[in-house]
Amino acid sequence: YQTIYRIPVVVHIVHNGEAVGSGANISYAQIQSQIEVLNEDFRRRIGSNGFNENEAGADTLIEFFLATEDPNGSALEEPGIDRVDGGRSEWPKGFLRNPIETSLKPFTIWDPEKYFNIWTVNFGGFASRDLLGYAQFPDESGLPGLNVDNGPDNTDGIVIGYKYFGSSEKGNFPDMIAPYDLGRTTTHEVGHWLGLRHIWGDGDCTYDDYCLDTPLSAEPSYGCPVDKITCTELEMIENYMDYTDDGCMNVFTLDQMDRMHTVLETCPRRKEL
Ligand code: ARG
Ligand code: ZN
Ligand code: CA
Repeated sequence: YQTIYRIPVVVHIVHNGEAVGSGANISYAQIQSQIEVLNEDFRRRIGSNGFNENEAGADTLIEFFLATEDPNGSALEEPGIDRVDGGRSEWPKGFLRNPIETSLKPFTIWDPEKYFNIWTVNFGGFASRDLLGYAQFPDESGLPGLNVDNGPDNTDGIVIGYKYFGSSEKGNFPDMIAPYDLGRTTTHEVGHWLGLRHIWGDGDCTYDDYCLDTPLSAEPSYGCPVDKITCTELEMIENYMDYTDDGCMNVFTLDQMDRMHTVLETCPRRKEL
């Protein structure tokens, strides 16, 4: 028997007054499809897209569930959901990412020691490609590589573009955009939230992600490249912490699992065992 970390989630669905199920006011089914993907990926579930036969591949023993109670202890009509009229159609994502960081998150966050906070927003159009999502790193773990992108408690969590939240294999979600429509943006950002760095270490072959079982790489990979080597070894382009297409990813490694467990054991965030 192994201990499973079970993480209660609240999804703040940030919309602009649309009816439930249209535009940024995404349906409950779309939220559920994303929670299923997280559990398939973090548990390396057999028969799902999250399964792999990589010898370094891990069942991380981490699971996610939609919270059943709000911060006052009242039952939620839609478990794990907080629908927020943010009063704007697009949320700019400049370098400082205001106003998401300065107003949206602090005003809507649920106690980050009791809930894992996820916000879905419309980031708005961008010339080449939308930002898909971003995360705030944990900072109490003492692990190497986490002295960047930290923030105050009242912005803890991840932000995901609503067009990339969920899986179009699990329902009819017409606004989702391939090849980022299988829920792996959220898997990737949860990896950051639990202390994982990018697979290429955000630098050339001298930069690492502090995991020995992920080969060095000099750059992010896009698409689904075959036999790619930029340093000395075959790259693990199927790792969730790369930038490859959603359908190309299916691995967290054992060393990545260890980092995530260290974060869960040292940071004052809620988990049930
Ligand atoms: N923060 C990254 C971005 O916006 C996330 C990339 C996730 N990759 C994916 N295949 N879903 O580019
Ligand atoms: Zn990333
Ligand atoms: Ca490595």
